[in-house]
Amino acid sequence: MSEAIMSSFRYRPEILQGVGELLTYDLKKYEDWFLLDATVLKKITDDFVKELEKGLTKEGGNVPMNVTWVMNFPNGHEEGRYLTIDMGGTNLRVCYVSLCPRKRDFEQTQRKYKIPSEIKSGTGEQLWNFIADHLQAFMKENFIEAPEDQPLPLAFTFSWPVYQKTIRSGILQRWTKKFNVSGVEGEDIIPQLEAALARKKIPVQVVALLNDTTGTLIASHYRDPHVKVGSIFSTGTNAAYMEECRLIPKLEEYGLPEDAKVIINTEYGAIDNDCKILPLTSFDRQIDEESLRPGTQIYEKMVSGLYIGEMIRLIMLKMHGEGQLFQGQDVTRLRQNNALDATFLSIAELDISEGLDDMREEFENELSLSPSIDEMKVCRYLIGLIATRAARLYACGIAAICKKNKINKCHVGVDGFVFNKYSGFKDRAMQGLRDIFDWPHDEVGPISLNASEDGSGVGAALAAALALKEGRQIGIEQIG
Ligand code: BGC
Repeated sequence: MSEAIMSSFRYRPEILQGVGELLTYDLKKYEDWFLLDATVLKKITDDFVKELEKGLTKEGGNVPMNVTWVMNFPNGHEEGRYLTIDMGGTNLRVCYVSLCPRKRDFEQTQRKYKIPSEIKSGTGEQLWNFIADHLQAFMKENFIEAPEDQPLPLAFTFSWPVYQKTIRSGILQRWTKKFNVSGVEGEDIIPQLEAALARKKIPVQVVALLNDTTGTLIASHYRDPHVKVGSIFSTGTNAAYMEECRLIPKLEEYGLPEDAKVIINTEYGAIDNDCKILPLTSFDRQIDEESLRPGTQIYEKMVSGLYIGEMIRLIMLKMHGEGQLFQGQDVTRLRQNNALDATFLSIAELDISEGLDDMREEFENELSLSPSIDEMKVCRYLIGLIATRAARLYACGIAAICKKNKINKCHVGVDGFVFNKYSGFKDRAMQGLRDIFDWPHDEVGPISLNASEDGSGVGAALAAALALKEGRQIGIEQIG
């Protein structure tokens, strides 16, 4: 193992203290698979840059590089009241946001609703009705009413790849994460949502459709103009940045002004769908094969919150089969697909108690297993390897955007429960950036990852304000 990685990887010595020689020796292959040194990260980053560039061409590539039609950052003078709906991988969040002009400030009321699994794999009609029902209930609870004959402006944050001809339309390219709703892929989602809103006579008008990364970029830039990239690291993984239109070959015939810019939602979770760049292990291949959409979102499946729980489950199961873990115990629950999520890993890594008490409780609750302390130490070590790989690969995506755009210094606004709640993730990702860009160890990195919140509240409201201000939807509809 290289020294740079050893120094960023603090687990092995403490965690494995006292664990038998044989087990320690057997972990070597996992280190070889999961510890990616600086040379590997640099090569991956350079290949990622090519994938991003290809996505901007007319022919396109694996990475959609979707044009969002958000062509400006807010200037701080935006005002008004907006309803926002955020449909994410886990929750539906409805907000009512008031933007306060000149203060870069806002007020908001919000409510979160868990999206049931039957909705995630139901029909489009069920999904849109679910959203409309909750919006209606939210408006009622908060006494939100539209002035007569004037529907309230609504911004819709939709965390899936859509092809947009205007800021208020979008054809779903494909479902990702655990969603598989019928009748929506290949269709414009806005008329479908609007039909449900009209059926229930909800007095709103959709004025902007945006991705969660676009909302994060707008909201973080609103507070901190040094932010140049907005990213989500959560159930899924993705990033958005502002691109110069003259560098987007697929926009050539749109005749946009020479200095025009537009936010690109990269959808870089789809990087390497050809499986030519990333060092996939047999576990990654298994996760992909057993997923709803094999052959898609290959990068996302190696790094994001939805899959890292599955990774440790598969490894523990393999080690059990090899006679190294949980011998003589009933592993029925460990055999169940997706029995673990990122929370299991996060709790295990946070546990600093001598007896690893929290981790033991998780093993009991989630898997009905009673591991020995040595077994837990080994698992915790493996969890560290998995999370470190995820963070370092995540750094490659951010580094690729910066490299492609010759950004040497900036802030990156990152939202998502794994980034915000998984202790140590940010440091590991920052170490990844340091290794990729060869920043001296004693200097603060010029590109920093900063926690950002509220992309789907204030970010969406700002996107709505910008869309209304510029009346852009009409112009773009004509040239699209
Ligand atoms: C989706 C993106 C989204 C990301 C984070 C991915 O699966 O394709 O649109 O931004 O998850 O939510």
